[in-house]
Amino acid sequence: MKRAVVTAVMCVCATVGVSGSVAMEQDTGAATRPVAATTGPTLRRAASGVFPIGVAIAPKVIRDDGRAALAAAQFDHVTIENHMKPALVQPEPGVFTFEAADEHVRYAEAYGLAVYGHTLVWHNQMPKWMFETPDGTPLDREKAVANLRAHILAVAGRYRGRVRAWDVVNEAIRDDDHATEFLRDTPARKAIGDDYLALAYTFAREADPAALLVYNDYNNELPGKRTRTLKLLKDLEARGVKVDAVGMQLHLQLGWPSVKVIEESIVAYHEAGYRVMVTELDVDVLPRRRPGGADLGAVEKGDPTMDPFTAGLNADTQTALAKRYRELFEMLVRHRDKIDRVTFWNLDDGTSWLNNFPVRGRTNHPLLIDRILQPKPAFEEVVRVLREAGR
Ligand code: XIL
Repeated sequence: MKRAVVTAVMCVCATVGVSGSVAMEQDTGAATRPVAATTGPTLRRAASGVFPIGVAIAPKVIRDDGRAALAAAQFDHVTIENHMKPALVQPEPGVFTFEAADEHVRYAEAYGLAVYGHTLVWHNQMPKWMFETPDGTPLDREKAVANLRAHILAVAGRYRGRVRAWDVVNEAIRDDDHATEFLRDTPARKAIGDDYLALAYTFAREADPAALLVYNDYNNELPGKRTRTLKLLKDLEARGVKVDAVGMQLHLQLGWPSVKVIEESIVAYHEAGYRVMVTELDVDVLPRRRPGGADLGAVEKGDPTMDPFTAGLNADTQTALAKRYRELFEMLVRHRDKIDRVTFWNLDDGTSWLNNFPVRGRTNHPLLIDRILQPKPAFEEVVRVLREAGR
């Protein structure tokens, strides 16, 4: 039998408590009970003194003893995958449903993990009422601004002092390099105008003055989106708003984009005066019809050829994944003076959102830890690179 060598610590789930039940569609793979160990390598120990290393958590992690213990042993901070998003915390005007978010924060605090907030304004997982009438007409500006402010003050205010940084606005920039406008035409923008971003950052600062405020996006390592991001940040500065950090989601594929392009963007954001946070790291190993990214609207229809690793990752791809992570982390550690944190999007292959995006119901293998909570070759590579950097 294969030995469980991913280190976990004793579970304190009883003190964390479980409340409410929100089903997010995910493939959790096999039942999990990793052997508790206190020796064995951990990412957090290897990364200590290099940069904070974290993971997105969900009910399927914190309510599963094995995963809950594993996440706490391996990582030093968490992001909450879904349960701080607007549609989940304020589904109806003035009706706040913080039970699940609170449960995640209690889990983190019980284990001594820092919490990063995600997210206050986006165009997905938003309650429609916030910026639109029931028939889809944009609300009056005044009403929309009031809704935005009330939401941000309630959510960032509730967790004031307990959240290290907020992804205040998520994915506000267009993907198209040739579009004449650079902001995505979201419900918030339609109702409020281009200054919805400046307002959101101002309200977030008011709600939690000590939290770092992040602008978070996917594909912002690519030159076109990087240019638009720098333009947005300049515009915000001109409006008197200073964003603290650029969140680079880094939803990568095996061969795309190059480490060099990612490196150039980290340097460019740093030179423009921003910290960099890697907020949602994973490496998709499955085929896609269109180049990568994380535009939730860009779903693809599947066929069996699009799901080649249902029985497990083949040796070549396993090696390619390890190499991809090694090369990425070799670059990240060189720029550790610019990087505030590196956060993986999900704990293990079984709980990865990439099992359902961009094609639903596939078997993906994008992370360092597999479905039965065993470390993959990529895990060993990342630990080695971090340890060498930390010496
Ligand atoms: C994803 C979650 O992982 C899924 O569970 C959910 O169904 C959709 O959203 N970029 C982001 C994250 O900023 O919030 C997204 O999370 C993944 C892409």
